[in-house]
Amino acid sequence: MVMSKQTQPFQDIPAGRLKMDIFSPIRPKEKVVVVMGATGTGKSRLSIDLATRFPAEIINSDKIQVYKGLNIVTNKVTEEECRGIPHHLLGIIDPDQEFTARNFCDMASLAIEQIVGRGQVPIIAGGSNSYIEALVDDYDASNFCFLWVDVSMPILHTFLADRVDKMVQSGMVEDALNFFDPSGNYSRGIRKATGVPEFDSYFRTRELVDEETQAKVLQQAIQEIKDNTCKLGCRQVEKIHRLRNIKGWKLHRLNATEVFRKRGKEADEAWEKLVVRPSAAIVNQFLHRPRVVSTSKVSSKATVAAIAPAIMAAATH
Ligand SMILES: *[C@@H]1O[C@H](CO)[C@@H](O)[C@H](O)[C@H]1NC(C)=O
Ligand SMILES: *[C@@H]1O[C@H](CO)[C@@H](O)[C@H](O)[C@H]1NC(C)=O
Repeated sequence: MVMSKQTQPFQDIPAGRLKMDIFSPIRPKEKVVVVMGATGTGKSRLSIDLATRFPAEIINSDKIQVYKGLNIVTNKVTEEECRGIPHHLLGIIDPDQEFTARNFCDMASLAIEQIVGRGQVPIIAGGSNSYIEALVDDYDASNFCFLWVDVSMPILHTFLADRVDKMVQSGMVEDALNFFDPSGNYSRGIRKATGVPEFDSYFRTRELVDEETQAKVLQQAIQEIKDNTCKLGCRQVEKIHRLRNIKGWKLHRLNATEVFRKRGKEADEAWEKLVVRPSAAIVNQFLHRPRVVSTSKVSSKATVAAIAPAIMAAATH
């Protein structure tokens, strides 16, 4: 997997770009595709499907998946699932470190510049809508193409509960044990993830109680994770509705409900027909549309600071 380098912003902007910024405060903005949706709806899958159809790289916008660790608990894409598509901001931050919306904007902006510089389309995919909102606020919403994978809530809830059971079978408990905090503090870094604090009682008591009680406490933890995952899904959808209704984002809604009612090959076919093909058509149209030209809000300020020495140097020669 290609991970985003943590270099200083602007230090390797090609000379041509600098010149353009010096002589024109107005520059065409990058076109960015954003894949939104509640947890479990298939955002990662859609972003990878699109990146196999368009020259694209993916930027993760899940505030927990940016951390190293918890690959099972956070349902991180595997290398195989990535199908060779470069992913940025995925599994790169130290688990104890804070990672704020501001940090996300800075790193995602840098990744966008790098990806566009390679002639590729940045696809942002992940469930942290407040982080996406902060990033879009820095740019111009008209340069984003928003895809929203939507699944009817009762059906999604059933799926999410099953998914937690599958995660437990794949080693979720051991994964979470790595981040058990004996002091009980789950308010920072990766420990805030759904699927970590819920196991606290289990890890704390399991050496002290009989097997039957252990099993009961474990079941309670698993149930709590299911409930919290479903609540997270509801909050994510509420936020998406707000972004659409209050912020006025033009969201393309893909109704994937039917996909979740089917199994195996039929589900794959429904996914292709109801989600991938319509999304690809929307993205295709978006990429062929003339770019919107506007003043940049954040970059221009940062760029002025970065290029000031260059202007001074030019003036003295
Ligand atoms: C938990 O850890 C954070 C960060 O280290 C600290 O600021 C906070 O006070 C701690 N909370 C408790 C209840 O110990
Ligand atoms: C999504 O599709 C399902 C199944 O076809 C349908 O029952 C549901 O009403 C649709 N939802 C919306 C919001 O259109």
